[in-house]
Amino acid sequence: MMESYLDIAVEIAHEAGALLLQFSQQPLEISYKRRSDLVTEADRRSEALIVERLRARFPKHGIVAEEGGGQQTDSEYCWYVDPLDGTTNFAHGFPVYCVTLGLACRGEVVAGVVYDPTREELYTAERGSGAYLHGQRIQVSKTAQLAEGLLATGFPPFARNHDLNIEYYFRFTKLSHGIRRAGSAALDLCSVASGRFDAFWELKLNPWDKAAGSLLVEEAGGRVTDVRGERFNLLGDDIFASNGLVHDEMCQVFTEVLADRAGRGAGIRD
Ligand code: IPD
Ligand code: CA
Ligand code: CA
Repeated sequence: MMESYLDIAVEIAHEAGALLLQFSQQPLEISYKRRSDLVTEADRRSEALIVERLRARFPKHGIVAEEGGGQQTDSEYCWYVDPLDGTTNFAHGFPVYCVTLGLACRGEVVAGVVYDPTREELYTAERGSGAYLHGQRIQVSKTAQLAEGLLATGFPPFARNHDLNIEYYFRFTKLSHGIRRAGSAALDLCSVASGRFDAFWELKLNPWDKAAGSLLVEEAGGRVTDVRGERFNLLGDDIFASNGLVHDEMCQVFTEVLADRAGRGAGIRD
């Protein structure tokens, strides 16, 4: 039987995950892309491995990879690769990180894999075929009210949008069971897909952070938009993913916070 794109992505993610685990056992050299934006040898080596494997299997496909090792082509297929999502966690020995690969066809994500090597959790999805954890179908939660929801968010490793998201954080903390900020956007999205979290949002993410995870949420029966509730754009800044049931209630809060800020003359970029 012919291997699917997803099968090959899974093989590669496993191999890269094993490499990250090896690096986690040894002293790490950390460098900075800019203040608070860390990168390690593990990020670079994992990316080199993934890009080499993808190039060998799909020489015509485009590859957009976080550390810059990708290639543009005129193929309608493009891989979005985060070789280590959760670098800050990894660098501090906090075991919440993953490898994630999403394949888009003409801008729409059609397949995705997220592999967490510390828990050996493998999340996979193909458009139209459901979302899976270890081959078992997963579904978003059934929580119908924000007041009973467990939420997640993240903050980019540089200052932009911090204040706005702290206001969202402040408001939602009081309106829900709480908010987790675990440090890996791809795993946060997987937790929405598997029903561990009821919703996740973040204001400034790159396409490699959200490609696979957004598909997982959709295929698990959830809803993915931007924080205004508009159509999700992989190449846009923000993402808001939920079980669908708490979506409108949360959009209302995002809107109220923005209106409060506008009333005070605060911008959306502060
Ligand atoms: C980061 C993580 C984090 C999110 C940041 C991302 P990285 O990715 O996903 O949870 O809050 O915005 O940049 O740098 O660890 O690949
Ligand atoms: Ca990332
Ligand atoms: Ca990364």
